[in-house]
Amino acid sequence: MSDVELIDAARQVQKNAYAPFSGFKVGAAILAKDGQIFTGVNVENSSYGLTICAERCAVGKAVAAGIIKFAKIVVYTNDSPPATPCGACRQVLYEFSPDMQVICVNNQNEIKRYELSQLLPEGFRLNID
Ligand code: THU
Repeated sequence: MSDVELIDAARQVQKNAYAPFSGFKVGAAILAKDGQIFTGVNVENSSYGLTICAERCAVGKAVAAGIIKFAKIVVYTNDSPPATPCGACRQVLYEFSPDMQVICVNNQNEIKRYELSQLLPEGFRLNID
């Protein structure tokens, strides 16, 4: 699975973002360690605080499919520089794969690459192993 394919999946799904309030459409594509891809979009609500971010939408789809180990996620926006995941999403990603990569891309083809551990240093995680 190349980054180009993962970026393309995030770009495609961004079209389905439901963001009538902010106008800020986000597409996410998460690559599981077994090679599967799960996509997500932000889902806003008239009760603003109920909004779901694209990253957590993608994680939820993966977990529902029984997949909890991730290699990387692409977050695709029209923002420059490319928007990075919010704090809540960083924590949710950290729960499953503290060692994953985060690739932030925009519609001008700007790409920023991070380790999740850079974006969430000293993250919190209960030891359930
Ligand atoms: N949003 C995401 O989908 N992911 C993030 O990491 C940051 C914010 C969404 C939530 C809301 O629908 C819009 O972007 C503006 O905050």
